[in-house]
Amino acid sequence: MKTPPLLPPASIGILGSGQLGRMLAIAARQMGYRVHVFSPDRHSPTGQIADQEFTAPYDDLDAVRQFARSVDVVTYEFENVPAATAVTCAQFAPLHPGPQALHVAQNRLREKEFMVKHALPVAPFVAVGSLASLLVGLEEIGVPAILKTATSGYDGKGQALIQPPTTNLQSQATAAWDAIDHQSAILEAFVDFEREVSVVAARGADGSFAHFGVIANDHANHILDVSTAPANVPPKVAKEAVAMAQAVLEALDVVGVLCVEFFLTGNGRLLINEIAPRPHNSGHLTIEACATSQFEQQLRAICGLPLGDTTYLKPAAMANLLGDLWFQHDNPKSEITNHQSPNWTAVLAHHPAVKLHLYGKQTARPGRKMGHITALAATGEEAANIVRKARARARARVGIPL
Ligand SMILES: Nc1ncnc2c1ncn2[C@@H]1O[C@H](COP(=O)(O)OP(=O)(O)O)[C@@H](O)[C@H]1O
Ligand SMILES: [Mg+2]
Repeated sequence: MKTPPLLPPASIGILGSGQLGRMLAIAARQMGYRVHVFSPDRHSPTGQIADQEFTAPYDDLDAVRQFARSVDVVTYEFENVPAATAVTCAQFAPLHPGPQALHVAQNRLREKEFMVKHALPVAPFVAVGSLASLLVGLEEIGVPAILKTATSGYDGKGQALIQPPTTNLQSQATAAWDAIDHQSAILEAFVDFEREVSVVAARGADGSFAHFGVIANDHANHILDVSTAPANVPPKVAKEAVAMAQAVLEALDVVGVLCVEFFLTGNGRLLINEIAPRPHNSGHLTIEACATSQFEQQLRAICGLPLGDTTYLKPAAMANLLGDLWFQHDNPKSEITNHQSPNWTAVLAHHPAVKLHLYGKQTARPGRKMGHITALAATGEEAANIVRKARARARARVGIPL
């Protein structure tokens, strides 16, 4: 029997309290839902928007029960939710996406094995559990290769690159193994990709499917820097990427939003890099660019509402605002010298299309995602130019003419 949709003012439970939870909470409150958030942090980016902030460690299952009892549905904004926390929530309210998506997405080895099982293309990889198995793996995969911890890596953390020459492979392997603290890992062939792209897609409780097309992603220091949509890729590539994303959502029986990150090689071949069973940084531009944002789509999916229209009103681009912008460097090689707020007036004065999003984080740190800016324009390239130029003005000192 079909369960009726959850309608406002039902309570949405969110595990995790960062910017993804915040933007979901904003979409939910706009539609009149209540939002309860659970995380170890107080006054968090999501907590500032939520009706109720539950503050406790994720393994405090009594607190988790109290939270889960207070809501009508539970979702999460990061995939490293401990299994016991997810299972406990699921005893009191539906958990979307379900435990299977979490289980696969929170471990790189399981993720890669899942892709192989479903005939989805990935770079060659081997499981690594010791220095000896790393050396065997290097024989098999060759170099360059990337050693990645199986769990809890993000923004390039928990990764070590092993490069030619192979004359001192033993010492390079030891250094890489030490760098990831001897954690269980995968060794992955380095992909000489031309571009990185992603597909953010949603699956409804009734199995319906909707996607935001292919988004092009530029990274800097392993962290997403600028996303542009729609990506300028051949229609055949776009079709394949969307079909692969749909296959992942179906195989994992996802109800909610999931993002698939791909490498696109020079000969037009797509390889799946990783998946995230939640809204994704590359999809932030859908807030302004699409009839329905990825956050509203997540809400619709988990509430059992019909999925929304994902049409692009215009091409768009998004640039991340990292904590680095809060620090002034007197010269590129110098240490961070002092700390001041970026020049938002200059950012917003660059172009009327620029939209500012700040996540309400109390402290800036280099590499920390503090906010983003989005612009819509006639082409994706133009939008990307606008956000890059606008962001560059964040460092303009007050009083210096622009
Ligand atoms: N096998 C690979 N070959 C080439 N570049 C890679 C490879 N794996 C990761 N990278 C680069 O590092 C970035 C971050 O790696 P990723 O596996 O997506 O981890 P996370 O985003 O969880 O930190 C990727 O977006 C890509 O730019
Ligand atoms: Mg990634």
